[in-house]
Amino acid sequence: MANSPLLAAAAAIVFAASAGGQTALHINAAKVTAPVSPTLYGLMTEEINHSYDGGLYAELIQNRIFKDNAKNPVHWSVVGAGAIALDESQPIEGTVLKTCLKLDANGASAGHRAGVANDGWWGIPVKPKTSYRASFYAMADGVGPLTVSLESNDGSKVFATAQTQEITDKWQKYTVTLTTGDDAAPSAANRLVIATEKPGALRLNLVSLFPTTYNDRPNGNRIDLMQLLIDMKPAFLRLPGGNFLEGDAIADRFPWKATLGPLEQRPGHRGCWNYRASDGLGLLEFLEWCEDMHVQPVLAVYAGYSLKGEHVNAGPALQPFVDDALEEIEYVIGGAETKWGAVRAKDGHPAPFPLTYVEIGNEDGADKSHSYEGRFAQFYDAIKAKHPNLKCIDTLGRSYWDHTKAAPKRTGDVIDEHYYPNARQMEMDATHYDKYDRNGPKIFVGEWATREGSPTTNMNAALGDAAWMTGMERNSDIVVLASYAPLFTNVNPGGMEWKSNLIGYDALTSFGSPSYYAQKMFNNNIGDGVLAVEADNVPMQTWQPPAPKGKTDLPPAKKFPELFYVATKDSAKGTIYLKVVNAGGTKRDVRIDITGAGIAAEGTAITLGSARPSDTNSITEPAKIVPVTTAAKGLGSQFTYSFAPYSITVLALSAK
Ligand code: AHR
Repeated sequence: MANSPLLAAAAAIVFAASAGGQTALHINAAKVTAPVSPTLYGLMTEEINHSYDGGLYAELIQNRIFKDNAKNPVHWSVVGAGAIALDESQPIEGTVLKTCLKLDANGASAGHRAGVANDGWWGIPVKPKTSYRASFYAMADGVGPLTVSLESNDGSKVFATAQTQEITDKWQKYTVTLTTGDDAAPSAANRLVIATEKPGALRLNLVSLFPTTYNDRPNGNRIDLMQLLIDMKPAFLRLPGGNFLEGDAIADRFPWKATLGPLEQRPGHRGCWNYRASDGLGLLEFLEWCEDMHVQPVLAVYAGYSLKGEHVNAGPALQPFVDDALEEIEYVIGGAETKWGAVRAKDGHPAPFPLTYVEIGNEDGADKSHSYEGRFAQFYDAIKAKHPNLKCIDTLGRSYWDHTKAAPKRTGDVIDEHYYPNARQMEMDATHYDKYDRNGPKIFVGEWATREGSPTTNMNAALGDAAWMTGMERNSDIVVLASYAPLFTNVNPGGMEWKSNLIGYDALTSFGSPSYYAQKMFNNNIGDGVLAVEADNVPMQTWQPPAPKGKTDLPPAKKFPELFYVATKDSAKGTIYLKVVNAGGTKRDVRIDITGAGIAAEGTAITLGSARPSDTNSITEPAKIVPVTTAAKGLGSQFTYSFAPYSITVLALSAK
């Protein structure tokens, strides 16, 4: 496709590189070369890097239903005179809660407690004047009321405490509220303790602790992380993966039906990123997350292929998977009179959710059995027959790495392509979509990121990202959706599975990477039409590729631009957004000429930059690199602007 002779230059970047001479950008404010997709920038999510459990999902207890380890009650410990063990002798009838935690509290006496403690997700966050809802199932033989407390790991500080009523010898749910005082300094090295001072035996299950959540949802999300996402003004959320959709084997795929309803009915599943998923953030919670952000889901359905190659060929054996996807779609968009719409209504959400795109599988270019074309066709035909208005996304990904491959016979309405290069590759390939056939299928860049920096990306990655975004934005007549990945990582040791992520956090605080701020700048400042830009004397960078293996002669050096740019116009506001990325270490004075509209003398400049490309944000320095907004003066139809080394700039210009 990318080699097609039809490659149109409609939106193509034009730059002339020559030694010396002033760098200039010529913007024609009267010439719109492409519409900007209103859904261009969105989010992609999956359970990776403790994105939900130990991340966005606000549950503070780890291993709440004792399934994380079949032998030991991991993340639980004994407090005082007691002993603990997993116990399967007392399943809670009518639920998936089969294994409980048993405390032998026979050593307890007045003034000498016996109890259990949970260490949370790398600690339990304590903040002043904060309320937490603790709940659990308990049955006991003789222990009396229980004391529930939020305390420091060594027990020396108790931040909040509450008592239950008498515990009976039948399973029953208990709920208490814990409220910290205004003297509780923010800290994470804390635990939840449930204890008694009366001897006996205590069994516990589904032990949960929630702080206040975004929009106060009872099984909801962390407020700080939601706010970071909302500030990006995304247009959609691609869910539930990623590899997490597929699982290592078919049995590990995202089990959407088992993620619905009360937590007592959710067993969780293996996941594919080396830890168990609680599925507390299940399909309905994904959809409510979209609702809270005022965005649409891009729903990826399991398409009969899992990561380690297990798959189901097209034909009758695949049909149950197709039917399952149709039921999932019905759960999302069906009226309350439909079978699965009624389940959603029973789950508490009678109104259907909006849905435009359904993605069939994930990265099926990796399927060495080459079964995808048949599988895709079977899903596509069934989805279109029932929902002709839905757009189907295919995942063969004729991308950076394989775009020379011939297109398959059956493609989606939209094609999902993924890119994970380094900053140099991003910058070298920033004109990637300039070369695409304007009449070909639309593109969803469903996963993309410059992979530099860990656990979150650094300034150099942000420069690569921004260069790449100029290309997506310039070509958003065909790139209709794009979402960076991965979105989240817990930065604690052992929290991260994938290096280079957008947003980092621990139990207490969170921060955006420079890549996060680059995206926020791009998406918060975008028009509805791409403007024609021509450039003179663009400074170039040089890259010397290494000698091929076993050879000493170096291949020719490669030259590629150091400045990247795109201009869009908001036709309603009359604002022109000029985005310029200076990926080099030299300040660049650029003459800007604007024809086709008068330009007011004053505008706004938003700049993200740093002295060193390796600089980054972190838990301890969350705002080292953040956008700075200043008034830009002396503007007009012709002006010169200095772009700082290693910087990303948005100039918002008022067209008269
Ligand atoms: O984003 C991390 C992983 O990269 C995704 O799960 C997968 O789709 C891709 O290979």
